[in-house]
Amino acid sequence: MTKEIDILEKTKLPFSELGVSSGSEIEELFRKLLQKAEGEAKSISTEEQLEELRIRWLGRKRGVLTLVTENWLVPAPPPSKPWVGTYLNWFKEQLANLVGYREHAIRTLAEQEVREAHVVDLTLPGNIPSHGARHLITQTMEEICDIFLRLGFSVVEGPEIETAYYNFEALNMPAHHPARDMWDTLYLNLPGGAEPLLLRTHTSPMQIRVMEKQKPPVRVVVPGKVYRHDNPDASHSFMFHQIEGLAVDRDITFGDLKGVLDHFLREFFGPQTRTRFVPSYFPFTEPSADVHGSCHVCGSAGCRVCKFTGWIELVGCGMVDPNVYGFVGYDAQELSGFAFGMGVDRFAMLKYGIDDIQLFFQNDVRFLMQFRR
Ligand code: FA5
Repeated sequence: MTKEIDILEKTKLPFSELGVSSGSEIEELFRKLLQKAEGEAKSISTEEQLEELRIRWLGRKRGVLTLVTENWLVPAPPPSKPWVGTYLNWFKEQLANLVGYREHAIRTLAEQEVREAHVVDLTLPGNIPSHGARHLITQTMEEICDIFLRLGFSVVEGPEIETAYYNFEALNMPAHHPARDMWDTLYLNLPGGAEPLLLRTHTSPMQIRVMEKQKPPVRVVVPGKVYRHDNPDASHSFMFHQIEGLAVDRDITFGDLKGVLDHFLREFFGPQTRTRFVPSYFPFTEPSADVHGSCHVCGSAGCRVCKFTGWIELVGCGMVDPNVYGFVGYDAQELSGFAFGMGVDRFAMLKYGIDDIQLFFQNDVRFLMQFRR
């Protein structure tokens, strides 16, 4: 009895020594070869082993497929050649499928292992995503407005681009009035503009806009941004924030103005705050005053914020000049009122001990995060 030669050994033999001639005998050879490959494929479990399998069977240089092509197909006699060619193609296709399936199986297994290794423990506390917060200036504006809301004022807002009429003229400053120089104004040089436009230098134009629209009594506060051609330093910025206040009714006196501002400043800064009213000048109020607050940054000892005076100018205010009522159709004989305008940024500086106004606008998150609420 002759010993059956292993099918892999047969791949090294030339076709003439295989002892096959019919189509079914040739088919049987290729089926055995495929079974061999399937047996090997079953036992592999890693990508490295898969690569070895691919090289061993499909590798161009010494792969089994190359071997049977060279040993069986090339020297096959013409009657057998079509059979060898047909089954060789079939075998090649089956091998490619085999490697593909195995690759898919190994990858799926690897992915499953990764998933199992990263099991999510739902009982652990989650990562809290960092979220934004309102800027300290916004918080301060809201805090200030809340105090006035409790006093019966309402809150309105207005445009940052203004006409010279509202910013100056209707506030008792006709063209060429020297008081216009009190505010270093940024004019907008827009082509074809009938009236000069500017970035409002204060929130006071809203006094006019509100009175134009509303009949007395009036009690409003107006928060917003204002712009000036000021040189930046520790307490000056070219863009900053103001809150305007206006109250007009019968029999309003300077005493009401003092009482309201004094109450407001104690509410905002605390009862220990000292304030002083200093005579001043604004073209749209008569009489006028500046309100100074004791410097919280240095405890009134003197620092660069208060320019070593122990006091810082916080609010400009006064009784509405009767001339202003003429611009809005109010009766100056019957009505009286007060107005004020405060620098919000300076309020925030004093309250939180910030010694440089520029810090508000540099967007350094380390600074801003201290005031996250
Ligand atoms: C005015 O702007 C007047 N409109 C205020 C007013 C309103 C007076 C109603 C009377 C009646 P003044 O220019 O002083 O006034 O500015 C008001 C406040 O803004 C100042 O007290 C100060 O706190 C703040 N301020 C002024 N300039 C700057 C600046 N460059 N940077 C930051 N804050 C400023």
